[in-house]
Amino acid sequence: METVIVIFGGSGDLTTRKLIPALYNNFRKKRLPAPMRIIGFSRTPATDDAFRAKLGDAVRASVPSEFDAQAWGEFAGCLSYQAGDLENTSSYADLARKISTAGTPVNCLYYLATAPGFYPVIIGRLGAANLIAEEKGGPYKRIIVEKPFGRDLATARALNDELHRILHEDQIFRIDHYLGKETVQNVLMLRFGNAIFEPLWNRNQIDHVQITVAETVGVERRAGYYETAGVLRDMFQNHLLQLLTLVAMEPPAVVDADSLRNEKVKVLTALREIPSEYSLRYSSRGQYRGYTAEEGVDPRSVTETYAALQVYIDNWRWQGVPFYLRSGKKLSEKSSEIIIQFRRPPTQIFDVQAGVTELFTNHLSICIQPDEGMHLRFMAKVPDQGMHTRPVDMEFHYRDSFGSGAIPEAYERLLLDALQGDASLFARGDEIELAWRFIDGVRRGWESGDGPPLETYAPGTWGPEGGDSLLAHEGRWWRHDCSPHPHSPPLPAGPER
Ligand code: BG6
Repeated sequence: METVIVIFGGSGDLTTRKLIPALYNNFRKKRLPAPMRIIGFSRTPATDDAFRAKLGDAVRASVPSEFDAQAWGEFAGCLSYQAGDLENTSSYADLARKISTAGTPVNCLYYLATAPGFYPVIIGRLGAANLIAEEKGGPYKRIIVEKPFGRDLATARALNDELHRILHEDQIFRIDHYLGKETVQNVLMLRFGNAIFEPLWNRNQIDHVQITVAETVGVERRAGYYETAGVLRDMFQNHLLQLLTLVAMEPPAVVDADSLRNEKVKVLTALREIPSEYSLRYSSRGQYRGYTAEEGVDPRSVTETYAALQVYIDNWRWQGVPFYLRSGKKLSEKSSEIIIQFRRPPTQIFDVQAGVTELFTNHLSICIQPDEGMHLRFMAKVPDQGMHTRPVDMEFHYRDSFGSGAIPEAYERLLLDALQGDASLFARGDEIELAWRFIDGVRRGWESGDGPPLETYAPGTWGPEGGDSLLAHEGRWWRHDCSPHPHSPPLPAGPER
């Protein structure tokens, strides 16, 4: 049976930069169903040829070494464009005719890549035009909803209600591109594909966990959206909390969408809300210097571009273990990493090599990007120096074990999974709502007047002082172990403990 992918927001940036290159790569790898068509739907008038030419240029630029003119030619034959008004019912009648030219049944995957304000309209119009109802034994009708999924618990709930009015949960794919990253999925492999970590993975052996998603870019040309979001909504509600659930969840009985998501939901249910009176103690927020001068930003903007949180999971495995989360724009390096800091030995019986200040050594660094891999740090005997010891790293890098270029773009995997009906790497409705409930609590603290001040920080640094004091209060410090520069692991100089 034919499959048709309809991308609402077909002339937009996401389609050009991410979706079409990902679909092209899947096509090139012969992973897409056949026969298949992709329809770009947007307001801007354009011909099919102009649409194809624009996307061809973008794909050629994004994967120059993998661009195969013949494969692109075949792929481009599947692309077409429809100009239409998202609010106008006649546009959906046109779309219906375009989807099923001969009136034959087709599988449909709709991708909502428009401004989020249009999501309810598109869902409603698709329902009214009978484009999304599934019949028993008939073709599938699925929808991928791009982030942001709401801007707080109330709006996320309303959007879930709107979707559930027309669709079953298993037709809905709420995307979080972090879950499409190989290294994020590797957290599951690490934890549940090996037996050696499990006995250590709990409050008895782990001192704390750090999750950092640092970016060097600023707000770029997205001020319109970012001004209404800020880093808490843009990065924490989705990407950071998803990483947290993968680190903290219990092993699922099997790897399927329901089992995985049930376990993640349990973690989010156990996530302790930060009450307003503790907001100052457990959170920090900042704005990079120069943000208010960016194009489209209100000169008096108090939107945060950096945040750090100290959170707790109230269950048997994690009781009392702090999870420190931070993310920001215009920081010193682009780096996403998870640090599992193990407890230190009860006493230090060996001499430490001169100059080594770090005694709190055992940690596992999971490098999500850009230097995908893992480091395990432990103390080793310094040769030929009596019983002196110093920290060393055992390292695994994807590039060494699997070759450079082995890691595909997150959207490749996610689009394929949606086409195959596997929602394991997509957020379920209840998961999204629980994440918003937690983030709404943090925002309430910030808005209560008891929260941390909005500190400014210099671009190219690791953020405001408040972020560091969150850990320093407790004799800890942020780590940054995942270096994109191979073979240059500097010894971290944390404070002596
Ligand atoms: C997006 C955010 O979800 O993730 C952006 O909206 C951010 O603000 C981006 O830049 C980061 O993604 P990645 O894959 O580059 O870490």
